Amino acid sequence: MYDFRIDAADKADMYRDLGEALQALIADEPDGIANMANAAALIWETLPDLNWAGFYRNVGGELVLGPFQGRPACIRIPFGKGVCGAAAETRQVQRVDDVHAFPGHIACDAESVSELVVPIMREGELLGVLDLDSPKPGRFSEDDEKGCVALADLLAKVI
Ligand code: SME
Repeated sequence: MYDFRIDAADKADMYRDLGEALQALIADEPDGIANMANAAALIWETLPDLNWAGFYRNVGGELVLGPFQGRPACIRIPFGKGVCGAAAETRQVQRVDDVHAFPGHIACDAESVSELVVPIMREGELLGVLDLDSPKPGRFSEDDEKGCVALADLLAKVI
């Protein structure tokens, strides 16, 4: 049984504990899907105010839905389309306070308001993106961005 209950006082501590828990979960497992599945569950359990947490994988130049927690979501997203597609095309983190103001935003869940999408890169190659959605406007801060970039770096080795 895994019981990673993370209850840190501030965000930096929380992301440090989250990184350690993730490392423990993925250390001995070479299967990328299993590692993304546990990462999505861990993030979902730990970060407050999310309504979706998961992955889209780069499958032949198109984003295809991977392991996630939350409501069923759009399955395929072309590069350049919506927030995830922008992250995939530009290889840049997308941190959006209000998705309704983002051109081409794909509304998988009408409740989503803010979104953080982090490209997962290995040796210059885009493996996929980590996507977090929240019903709260401006839910994701610079600290969340830094923390999730660190998580994506850990995952890049094992997916
Ligand atoms: N809203 C996203 C699509 C993915 S879902 O949020 C899970 C976007 O515009 O890329």
